[in-house]
Amino acid sequence: MENNAKKIIFSGIQPTGCITLGNYIGALKNWVELQNDYNCLFSVVDLHSITVRQDSALLRKRCKEFLVQYLACGIDAEKNILFFQSHVPQHAELSWILSCYTYMGELSRMTQYKDKCAKHADNINAGLFTYPVLMAADILLYQTDLVPVGSDQKQHLEIARDIAMRFNGIYGEVFKIPEGFTPKEGARIMSLQDPTSKMSKSDPNENGFISILDNPDVIVRKIKRAVTDSDNVIKIREGHDGINNLINIYASITKKSIADIENEFDGKGYGDFKQSVAEAVVEELRPIRARYDDLINNKDYIEEIYKNGAYAAQKLASRTLSKVHRKIGFVDRKY
Ligand code: TYM
Repeated sequence: MENNAKKIIFSGIQPTGCITLGNYIGALKNWVELQNDYNCLFSVVDLHSITVRQDSALLRKRCKEFLVQYLACGIDAEKNILFFQSHVPQHAELSWILSCYTYMGELSRMTQYKDKCAKHADNINAGLFTYPVLMAADILLYQTDLVPVGSDQKQHLEIARDIAMRFNGIYGEVFKIPEGFTPKEGARIMSLQDPTSKMSKSDPNENGFISILDNPDVIVRKIKRAVTDSDNVIKIREGHDGINNLINIYASITKKSIADIENEFDGKGYGDFKQSVAEAVVEELRPIRARYDDLINNKDYIEEIYKNGAYAAQKLASRTLSKVHRKIGFVDRKY
């Protein structure tokens, strides 16, 4: 990391399914915009992904593909630390320690835990339950100031702050208390097929989400098929989740205000609007796909990035972890 005066960002995406337009608008796009003003660590959080069963070969391949998608979106490998979470063992170590400062009651209130239990009733493992502790460790290891995430992660960020404050309350100022960063529009992009639930990368219905690597024809088709009502009025209104979602997507990508969009499409119908949304999304994602295709076969370059990233992240993480060990009362390591 180049500048010590800059504040620190940590964020990550789980390597499951594919990176969606929701992940892009809610998180990745903001990482790209914030990277010049902060020292950033962006991780592919593979440890988190195994709370749900993964195919080993596919997971390994997907982890690398996700890292390349970070680059393709415009994350600069020179300026930021990019790494696989499992390459920095301090995450798992701090997670254990923090789990001893986290209450069962707090964890059982997490809505994502309840949702996942409902979805994976045959595999309600302990990792699913302690997942927020690992996420807290991710963030707190780097003395993170800011965590750019979508609104679905707010509860997890809140518990990370609570754990940090509890630990600091016992041992003094060990951890920085992180703040969240969620975009004004686009903090929660909804499914194109069921606009009352969030766009999810593990949605079995592929028409519900757009992958950032989808080709233009597919994007146009998915947006044209997006579920709306039959009102034909392009305005943000309660109860009109489908069109509200498309307006949010359009606003996030074009950076136009909601009021300007409502004026621009006043008197026009859903057909025209969907066409404009589709064009905006296609043009936003076109260069990402092109850069991805350029980079994905450059094995040495990718390896160099995640090797250097792990090295740099470990260096920072071990500083915080040593401090934690000392505060708790573990004997200093003499190796
Ligand atoms: P994950 O992998 O589910 O999602 C990655 C990022 O995308 C955001 N996001 C969305 N934003 C808007 N609309 C949506 N439909 C949408 N779906 C997902 C998420 O909020 C997230 O920012 N637990 C995290 C990963 C994680 C993490 C961390 C994040 C692990 N450790 C530390 C930040 C800091 C997760 O499962 O995100």
